Amino acid sequence: MDLEVLLSERLGAAFGAVAGEPVDPAVRRSQHADFQSGAALTLARRLDRSPREIASAVAARADLAGLAVAEVSGPGFLNLTVDDHFLARLANEAVVSTPPPVEPQTIVIDYSSPNVAKEMHVGHLRSTVIGDAAARLLEWLGHRVIRANHLGDWGTQFGMLIEQLDDRGETDQESLADLTAFYQAARVRFDSDPDFKRRAQLRVVALQAGDERTLQLWRRLVAVSEQYFLNVYDLLGVTLTSRDFTGESFYNDQLPGVVAELEAKGLVRISDGALCAFPEGFTGREGEPLPLIVRKSDGGFGYAATDLAALRYRVQQLGASRLLYVVGSPQREHFQMVYAVARAAGWLPDGVSVEHVAFGSILGPDGRALKTRAGDLIKLVDLLEEGIERATATALAKSPDLSATEAARVGRAVGIGAIKYADLSSDRMSGYIFDWDRMLALTGSTGPYLQYAYARIRSIFQRAGDAGPGKITLTEVAERELALELLGFEPVVVGVGESLDFHRLAGYLYSLAATFSTFYERCPVVGAPPELRESRLGLCDLTARTLRQGQELLGIEVLERM
Ligand code: ARG
Repeated sequence: MDLEVLLSERLGAAFGAVAGEPVDPAVRRSQHADFQSGAALTLARRLDRSPREIASAVAARADLAGLAVAEVSGPGFLNLTVDDHFLARLANEAVVSTPPPVEPQTIVIDYSSPNVAKEMHVGHLRSTVIGDAAARLLEWLGHRVIRANHLGDWGTQFGMLIEQLDDRGETDQESLADLTAFYQAARVRFDSDPDFKRRAQLRVVALQAGDERTLQLWRRLVAVSEQYFLNVYDLLGVTLTSRDFTGESFYNDQLPGVVAELEAKGLVRISDGALCAFPEGFTGREGEPLPLIVRKSDGGFGYAATDLAALRYRVQQLGASRLLYVVGSPQREHFQMVYAVARAAGWLPDGVSVEHVAFGSILGPDGRALKTRAGDLIKLVDLLEEGIERATATALAKSPDLSATEAARVGRAVGIGAIKYADLSSDRMSGYIFDWDRMLALTGSTGPYLQYAYARIRSIFQRAGDAGPGKITLTEVAERELALELLGFEPVVVGVGESLDFHRLAGYLYSLAATFSTFYERCPVVGAPPELRESRLGLCDLTARTLRQGQELLGIEVLERM
């Protein structure tokens, strides 16, 4: 049960009666009491009464018997102290494994979406990590989640790639082992060899015309890339599989239909030879209407056309009522324009929502885009491997008796967990500075700290031997604080399901771990007399289950021992 909602309902009714109109009681957790409402202060001017007077009237009226005690404080705050027995009852009834009921929706999440024959870089890291957390959390809440890995597997650059592959001989495994080198070699030839360039351009035509041999070569390129991406996903421990690839090429057949529909609805016109939509409200520097290019002047379709087709398909064929696009902030305008055109075309009917789940970039210590010493973009795999190496070394330094396999297992969980936590715990829209020492630290708001907090509770149970969790009773302040914190899990998860602000969940888990630490310092557990011990083990158990569930929703591996 959501305690905050319950208190809000009761207080809201009393406020309503006093004010003679509906009032949001604005009940929040507080430093000064368990919960606090400041609604009387905002209401005072409108009712022309003193805030303290309103607060007293509400306190007298509110039906809080058995739930909480309300007291007026300061200029007119209402401080709520939750009843110990009621709080204990809620803690005893809390089931972390079953999510609160929601109205189930079909939600398509467009995320990760790297490009064929190109290396995944740190920009794709954020999309993959945030998208994975979104998929896990929304699925857990009971929604039907469709993972859409919008692979960049189509476009004019495939002309030169296919031509390069054909020249090298398609059986030459070597040439594809390093995809970046392969891409760069093709690029160099394209820019310097006019004959190659001409052949590459003819290849694009052959590819679009469905020439079988060209398609065969193209499929090989895509397959090698997909395998590469799947290896990265495996290393990262994200839930994307080979079934989730729905690349740009998938929408190819639908593009003429999309164009025809836009034409029929009068939403596009020719401008400089290209077929463009000019959605309302989008203008360039000089105030001129901004085009969304649906078909290029050479007759080819681009990124925008594919996105329009994908949107229409997701709503009409997949039955989605919520569309999420986890893509970096620089593509904001592109998506806003795509949504505007889709809305005008009637592809986003009432009841279907669409959100660009944007994010800022990962920065180096100098506050600029993260680069290698040589100034290149950092390859995602290199970054992941470095994190794992560092965490493995730390694990070995701490416990030299760890076997090599065990150290590698812990190192991987900690290294990857640290990278994910650093990403998810920072405000999505602002970028963050990538700093190994900070994100791998065992103290502060880090992945390792969270993993350690869980492992520590497991070790308490080891020491408790046969004693197990029992009925929770609350007497000490630190016990009450922990119980209150534990009850905050459900509202946070529900809220993040709406906002996709994962830093709220990360921050909640950090605060829960810290609250547990205080509890554990103040309240002996294993050494306490039997009944108290069982109650406190009950609190330990609920904390462990909450931390575990929270970490699973973020995609951070749980360790029994650390
Ligand atoms: N492949 C694109 C990139 O690497 C991201 C695609 C995002 N999804 C979309 N539906 N446009 O920038």
